[in-house]
Amino acid sequence: MPELYAGLMSGTSLDGIDAVLIEFQHTPWRPLATHSLAYPAALRAEALALNAAGAAELERAALFANAHAERCAEAVHALLAAARVDATAVSAIGCHGQTVRHRPELGYTVQLANGALLAERTGIRVVCDFRSRDVAAGGQGAPLVPAFHAACFGAAGTHRVVVNLGGIANLTDLPRDGAVRGFDTGPANVLLDLWAEQHLGTRFDRDGAWAAGGRVVAPLLARLLAEPYFTAPPPKSTGRELFNAEWLAQHAPERFAPADVQATLAELTAASVADAIERHCAGAGEVLLCGGGARNTDLVQRLGARLAGRMVADTGAVGLAPEWVEASAFAWLAREALAGRPGNVPEVTGARGPRVLGAIYPA
Ligand SMILES: Nc1ncnc2c1ncn2[C@@H]1O[C@H](COP(=O)(O)OP(=O)(O)OP(=O)(O)O)[C@@H](O)[C@H]1O
Ligand SMILES: [Mg+2]
Repeated sequence: MPELYAGLMSGTSLDGIDAVLIEFQHTPWRPLATHSLAYPAALRAEALALNAAGAAELERAALFANAHAERCAEAVHALLAAARVDATAVSAIGCHGQTVRHRPELGYTVQLANGALLAERTGIRVVCDFRSRDVAAGGQGAPLVPAFHAACFGAAGTHRVVVNLGGIANLTDLPRDGAVRGFDTGPANVLLDLWAEQHLGTRFDRDGAWAAGGRVVAPLLARLLAEPYFTAPPPKSTGRELFNAEWLAQHAPERFAPADVQATLAELTAASVADAIERHCAGAGEVLLCGGGARNTDLVQRLGARLAGRMVADTGAVGLAPEWVEASAFAWLAREALAGRPGNVPEVTGARGPRVLGAIYPA
């Protein structure tokens, strides 16, 4: 029997929904179909607005979750059509939802998703709200992808690190002894996107071409790197609560040429990721990149320069294209939930123990 799952990821970049249909019975796991749906400008603006307190936010959050579910359903239908698969053949949809608040220190994290509506629209069982149980068990609720990275990219005899360059960067350390570790290192694209939007008027700096033409401002880089988050010990996770427009504004970037600031922000991502690897994953011979940032040529070059001596490649080199890794992880986490297996790695999140993750909406 094929084991078909759909995975839907909408990350901190607020770029939209990445969707995969994946078959888990046979290895290596390869998506049967993929689909990307960009948020329309108004929906993206609302997702961003919901990251901060505002008027009527309960209703707006509920309406956002409905709109998000409608788009998720559209993505699932596109997957089914592309793979010529019937909805009844799909065991479940793993739907991450859109994070609008992440406050594990206060005991909550909010991923907006209307699992009921998505189940209604697709006729497929939905698993969502993956993070809350880990937070309830005293964990960060993040990152949740390390268990999947281990299952998918773990290689006997090789010390690998997997780095996801989404809005935020998170790494998974896969040492030879098999003890999986991981944490959020800090910003990946979130500040780069913000600065590009302000100065280029585009959603992001394609291939990092703008950053590549700038010069790193060393004193600015040093001030940005002085942020205590970078040297705080894991377990740790972060998001737009910390790395946002206000955080950047505190460092007075307007005193420098915009392209130089972009180069500095790219270097900030490269430096904070490379430093996290040096500190916590010493001995790793291979670094595998995934997430949209793996498509940023300039960023990848900067990382490569700082990780000289290690093999740096994107996950496509080992069979899963970088843009589909996170969505595939949530398809896999849905499978783990249905099997009653834990999806968190307590050493990563700091939870009191392994927990089965997610809320299930029957088909
Ligand atoms: N060709 C490219 N050049 C430069 N940057 C790119 C390119 N393609 C994608 N990106 C960057 O990748 C981002 C989207 O990455 P991704 O979807 O992995 O992040 P995310 O939605 O935050 O996901 P997650 O939270 O799961 O990590 C874009 O916002 C952009 O910054
Ligand atoms: Mg995305």
